[in-house]
Amino acid sequence: MTTRPTITLVQGDITEQHADVLVNAANSSLLGGGGVDGAIHRRGGPEILAACRDLRASHYGKGLQTGQAVATTAGRLRAEHVVHTVGPVWSRTEDRSALLASCYRESLRVASELGAWTVAFPAISTGIYGWPLDDGARIAVRTVRESASPPIIEVRFVLYDEEAYARFDEALTAWT
Ligand code: AR6
Repeated sequence: MTTRPTITLVQGDITEQHADVLVNAANSSLLGGGGVDGAIHRRGGPEILAACRDLRASHYGKGLQTGQAVATTAGRLRAEHVVHTVGPVWSRTEDRSALLASCYRESLRVASELGAWTVAFPAISTGIYGWPLDDGARIAVRTVRESASPPIIEVRFVLYDEEAYARFDEALTAWT
């Protein structure tokens, strides 16, 4: 019998977490930005940006597509790897939820391939990209429930503020 990974919630800054993989809410350039992305590059140091530049030069000349994920070193962060994924920008007129689900699924797939046991996610797309928190939380929890598999034993959502924590708590309660 396969045990399902545990899903945990914490409120705080993802760059202070200790996990095998920290997921970054990046943009397609992979060259940094604000929010989680800015914090990860600031605290992780220049090694992460150097690895991102190498990826752009080797496999991702046009950038990383929305919904995809790729790993680099975690630099000075307390993790083995950072997995960068590009969330969709929220749209009122177009349903992009499959792309948001893909961010979680692809990040977990990359983390599993790396042999990760613990994976920490931010609430992808719910900041600068404008996704409503309640819907973003439902998609995150549902997708992780459906797609996290061994060797991953814990998936941790790291929510920056009380509001985000409350929405993820509701989604988790609804899905367990
Ligand atoms: N730790 C945990 N969560 C955080 C942190 C942190 N240090 N900082 C912000 N959040 P965002 P997006 C929360 O904007 O919406 C960048 O410029 C935040 O409150 O980081 O996917 C990239 O380069 C929100 O709930 O990511 C892209 O251009 C969530 O993390 C763009 O922003 C995601 O907010 C990506 O936008």
